[in-house]
Amino acid sequence: MAKLQHVIEAQQFTLPLIHELFQTADQMEKILERGGTLDYQNKIMASLFYAPSTRTRFSFESAMYRLGGKVISTEQAHLFSSVIGGETLEDTIRVVSNFCDVIVLRHTEVGAAKRASLVSSVPVINAGDGKGGQHPTQALLDLYTIYKELGYIDGLKIAFVGDLEQGRTVRSLAYLLGKFERVMLYFIAPDFLQIREDIQNYLTRHNVWFTLENDLSKVISEVDVIYITRIEKERFADKADIYDETVKKYFIDKDVISKMKQKSIIMHPLPRLNEIATDVDLDPRAAYFKQARNGLLIRMALLTMVL
Ligand code: CP
Repeated sequence: MAKLQHVIEAQQFTLPLIHELFQTADQMEKILERGGTLDYQNKIMASLFYAPSTRTRFSFESAMYRLGGKVISTEQAHLFSSVIGGETLEDTIRVVSNFCDVIVLRHTEVGAAKRASLVSSVPVINAGDGKGGQHPTQALLDLYTIYKELGYIDGLKIAFVGDLEQGRTVRSLAYLLGKFERVMLYFIAPDFLQIREDIQNYLTRHNVWFTLENDLSKVISEVDVIYITRIEKERFADKADIYDETVKKYFIDKDVISKMKQKSIIMHPLPRLNEIATDVDLDPRAAYFKQARNGLLIRMALLTMVL
């Protein structure tokens, strides 16, 4: 099995590594069916979360328990750790890495996971860093979901919708998709929420086709995946009047999905706010709760690759 030192950004994953990760995740499904394993009973995972999380923290912690390991955790590290007394992230990581075999870190600052990895004596896994940073394990579970639901990634047509400027899941997934053949990425957002130039430049350098749009209806019947993300009101601070209009414009309901291909999927990293009507949940193309389930498998697989 390939050994990973740290999981910091999506770009670090090569195609062979992605395929191996998917195969390992498939094996984890079988391990789960047997109720888990005790293979990692001598290992300890520290989950250090400086920002709120439901899916990422619970799935990592569940993954570690299913592997037989143990978990030490702080879910509000900014309130319940020595950070409150002014301790730096670096010092916290130097100390915590004495007490565990892997650190899963969510932080409010872009680049925090990289900084942590430079001083940690154990592997660091980035569970989301800042707004506009990365969320590589989410992107890997997203990719795994696409692979399982559609059966292919090469040639995929995907529309990203929502806050693409700060959306770290979209940023990480764009990096991963850029490694595949003939993919077509449609970034659908108002100008001020559009995908940043760093991602555009990366895709251009890697000869990946993409386009910037603001109207989902123009592409909805062509794409295999709609990947929609939260649009937060705070992002419209000086444009409050157009928040409601924007949410309405990109809202996914039964009428919208009736224009999608029969073999296509709707994805969302969750939590959702006002992006998808709840009656869409019953449509077989709704994949967002499957993403959450696949997160457990991918995170079990990632833990086995770093431990
Ligand atoms: N998708 C995701 O990262 O969810 P949480 O913020 O609940 O971890």
